[in-house]
Amino acid sequence: MIDLRSDTVTKPSPAMRRVMAEAEVGDDVYGEDPSVNRLERHAAALLDKEAALLLPSGTMANLVAFLAQTHPGDTVIMSRAAHPFNYERGNLAMVGGLTTRTIDDPLGKFTAAQLAAQVVCEDDPHLSRTTLAAIENSTNRGGGACWDLHDVEDIAAVCRRHNMRLHCDGARIFNACAVTNVEARYYAQCCDTLCFCLSKGLGAPAGSVLVGDATTIRRALNYRKMLGGGMRQAGVLAAAGLYALEHHVADLADDHRRARTFRRALEGEGLRFPLPSPTNIMYMETPDAHKAAHALAERGVLMLPPTAHILRAVFHRDIDDAATAQAIEVCKQILCA
Ligand SMILES: Cc1ncc(COP(=O)(O)O)c(C=O)c1O
Repeated sequence: MIDLRSDTVTKPSPAMRRVMAEAEVGDDVYGEDPSVNRLERHAAALLDKEAALLLPSGTMANLVAFLAQTHPGDTVIMSRAAHPFNYERGNLAMVGGLTTRTIDDPLGKFTAAQLAAQVVCEDDPHLSRTTLAAIENSTNRGGGACWDLHDVEDIAAVCRRHNMRLHCDGARIFNACAVTNVEARYYAQCCDTLCFCLSKGLGAPAGSVLVGDATTIRRALNYRKMLGGGMRQAGVLAAAGLYALEHHVADLADDHRRARTFRRALEGEGLRFPLPSPTNIMYMETPDAHKAAHALAERGVLMLPPTAHILRAVFHRDIDDAATAQAIEVCKQILCA
């Protein structure tokens, strides 16, 4: 099977499995896992932040970032396409007691002016104050769109002006960096907190890391425990994460190159890609996406149909040039016939 459903399907390589097997471990809930401590120190240094925290998933990393920087009854602002708004089971409302204001844009981004128009900071007893904004870089539903650093700086300035926190869901921050040529720490500098996933294009089996100032990360650690996210000998995962950061970041550009090859070949056959897709996530228009996904699967190519007329293909490190060529041939026959 050529599995293009998501970059989360990547499996740990033999070399990654070896470092996991050999990882030095301890009880991380007591702060005694040397591999976790090493990963957290490494991530904090890489993103130029005071502290870092390993979490089991991107969903929990986002949630503890929101919990640590808001109070129940607050409002948070994000794109209408944002992952926490669409795909995290309403946890902001259910766990955080937060309401959400959203900004509509097909790429999942927004401007400083759009953000400023949503801010509520007056002390009116009728209103819920907006205390945090969140960006996603690169975007998932926005077809892997990446933020220009200057736009994030402008967003950060609006947040500072209104005493709001800024969180970056950087599940795929290193994909964005590969496109914009901006080091991740410059994005992180604009934001109070940033989380990134080890388990997507980087190829580790699980784990996300949240970075920020020491006080916020301490609060996040308490919420991680509350949510049941304290893991004991998590060093086996941290070792995979460290390996991924050291060995796999540079390979993301190859995923983007294969995604471009795929897109060019199929656009040449008349298939429509509604979004620019500069990274590894491609959306394609098709009359019946469920039927198309089924027909592709029968020919050995897996894709997701997120809506009735859209198919999604995500390139990742377990898809090589030969698999890309094969996926193109199958798509030509099923989607372009
Ligand atoms: C942008 C974004 N944020 C957060 C997540 C959540 O990550 P996880 O599946 O590890 O909970 C995802 C998962 O696909 C994502 O695409």
